[in-house]
Amino acid sequence: MIRLAFLLFLTTVASSSMYRPIVLMHGITSSAAGMDELAGWLRTSFPGVYVISVEIGNGVDDSFLWPLDKQVEHFCETVLADEHLRQGFNLLGYSQGSIIARGALERCSLPVHNLITLSGIHQGVFGIPYLLKLPAQFRELVSKYAYETPVQNVISVANYWRDPDQLDRFRSHCHFLPDINNEREVRNETYRNNMLKLNAFVMTYSDIDEIISPRHSGLFMGYAPNSLHVETWNNSRQFTEDLIGMRTLWEQGKLYTFTAHVKHQDVPHAPNKDFLVQNIFPFFNNTLP
Ligand SMILES: *[C@@H]1O[C@H](CO)[C@@H](O)[C@H](O)[C@H]1NC(C)=O
Ligand SMILES: *[C@@H]1O[C@H](CO)[C@@H](O)[C@H](O)[C@H]1NC(C)=O
Ligand SMILES: *[C@@H]1O[C@H](CO)[C@@H](O)[C@H](O)[C@H]1NC(C)=O
Repeated sequence: MIRLAFLLFLTTVASSSMYRPIVLMHGITSSAAGMDELAGWLRTSFPGVYVISVEIGNGVDDSFLWPLDKQVEHFCETVLADEHLRQGFNLLGYSQGSIIARGALERCSLPVHNLITLSGIHQGVFGIPYLLKLPAQFRELVSKYAYETPVQNVISVANYWRDPDQLDRFRSHCHFLPDINNEREVRNETYRNNMLKLNAFVMTYSDIDEIISPRHSGLFMGYAPNSLHVETWNNSRQFTEDLIGMRTLWEQGKLYTFTAHVKHQDVPHAPNKDFLVQNIFPFFNNTLP
């Protein structure tokens, strides 16, 4: 009897400790606790899985007061210092967390198996609703002076403010997004190589997102030059020139997209639970070799 119980115990430990760890990155003006509900569902669905929700600085304030270069550096330090993550992990970023996660993967060559972004901002944001997330005194700084260095240095949103009337300035003066999207004159092949190591890149957006404009940024689509019309993905430079390997991932069947139907702030919460369990959880259902 005792032996059987012990064997059962061993089996449980072995099977439960094998799920790939999960790293979560929250959105702007939020904190690690904002991902607690999702983390709880993951722990229930994948018993024994190691889940961490990374917080940058003091969370709510530093999420918009730290430039994204610094946020990514901090994210990499946290992840690289965690011995549970050495063998690899699945990485999920929500909203602003989408480009922190992707930037960290590209720059720090993190051992990510599946990269999942929920309502991401891969082609930036441009519009008032998102600015309302910021305290009032910061909004005009972004809408009027986003590409001035002092603004780039103090408000995260400036680092992915993609003004379709100033795309040249965006590419040359915006500190973060054009870099991790490989839109500069000199590309960084490491970024592309790191993306191509993924098993899957999963992107979602919500068709009623009221915060991100254009909401299709979640699927890596942005405004066409000098217009407020969203460029189709296959016409964008990101796709045609395969800047960070998106076209290759697509050709290899490693790119997945899903459309949710909830408000932006509900994406990691109960109103979106069925959508997440059905479409996203399968990408966490994998074990370490
Ligand atoms: C994980 O995959 C296994 C095998 O296909 C399946 O039985 C199980 O229900 C899945 N778990 C979740 C939470 O999706
Ligand atoms: C490319 O990115 C890596 C990782 O961030 C960095 O070490 C390297 O210097 C970059 N290379 C170029 C050409 O910018
Ligand atoms: C590009 O994407 C659009 C919208 O998804 C689609 O209708 C069109 O057929 C695609 N064109 C090519 C050449 O694949």
